[in-house]
Amino acid sequence: MNFSCPILAPHTISNSLVKDPRKLQLINALVSHLHTFARETSLDHAEWTKVVEFLTRAGKESTDYKNEFILLSDIMGLSALVDELTHPKPAGCTDSCEAGPFYVPNAPEVPSGASLAKVGTTGEAMFFNGTVKNTKGQGIRGAKIDVWQADGDGIYDVQYPGTTEANDRGKIVAEDDGTFCYRGILPTAYPIPSDGPGGDLLRTLGRHPHRAAHIHFMLNAPGYDDLTTALYPSHSPFLGTDPVFATRKSLICQVVEERDPKRWEAMGFKNREVTRGRVWVWSFGFVLASVEEVEEFKRQRAKAKL
Ligand SMILES: [Fe+2]
Repeated sequence: MNFSCPILAPHTISNSLVKDPRKLQLINALVSHLHTFARETSLDHAEWTKVVEFLTRAGKESTDYKNEFILLSDIMGLSALVDELTHPKPAGCTDSCEAGPFYVPNAPEVPSGASLAKVGTTGEAMFFNGTVKNTKGQGIRGAKIDVWQADGDGIYDVQYPGTTEANDRGKIVAEDDGTFCYRGILPTAYPIPSDGPGGDLLRTLGRHPHRAAHIHFMLNAPGYDDLTTALYPSHSPFLGTDPVFATRKSLICQVVEERDPKRWEAMGFKNREVTRGRVWVWSFGFVLASVEEVEEFKRQRAKAKL
């Protein structure tokens, strides 16, 4: 039986007053898919009312620091998909993944080799070694690397009430050969907020809220496509069951333990900063695509779809 309404043609909104054709395309497609969803599931009034109540609660419970709609988008994999569509990466380039809710612009600039963790930050000592290269294997001089992460308790600086100073975050400029390093804290797994509608959705689906441990990076350099990504240590729990679908195999790294105090000193650690007799050493090579390479990749991808 066809339930389509003969009076309204809901699949196509055509309005000559709409100035933005892209907006019209998006709204038309959204309405079309919503109608298909209702037909396919035989959505009834009671169910739709529950959906409206759920979305209303999501709006009411959103704050500056916890946007339930972003959480819902993450939990449904939409944020990861939009990121993949927006930032396609040619072969050989580092995969991107979403920035998450704790990025803060204008983090303090620190020299390569400095510590991003303030004295007393909870967690085990970690030394991060990075390179930023292009697809030809050449180091990218002056690449800027924004780094931010949770501490050893799984909490970001901005989540601590009254925080005024950056901790476990900073902006580093790569050396002439594209290398950079910093001292910090090994990140640990943490749960996304689950006390609102987003959490209810996870529980309804039998999923947990825990993200694997990770460090966020945002890299940019003139002439290169910006890269926002995150790296995950292979020893972390929850790698295969990320509630926001952001964990990619290519971003999972083997992090090794360094137990030689002479090496700790060479990295810039003082003995008192090292707990459990080890410093975690994390190395990764970032590969950025040039703006031209990404444009060409998008052109080829669009052509393949035709
Ligand atoms: Fe995060």
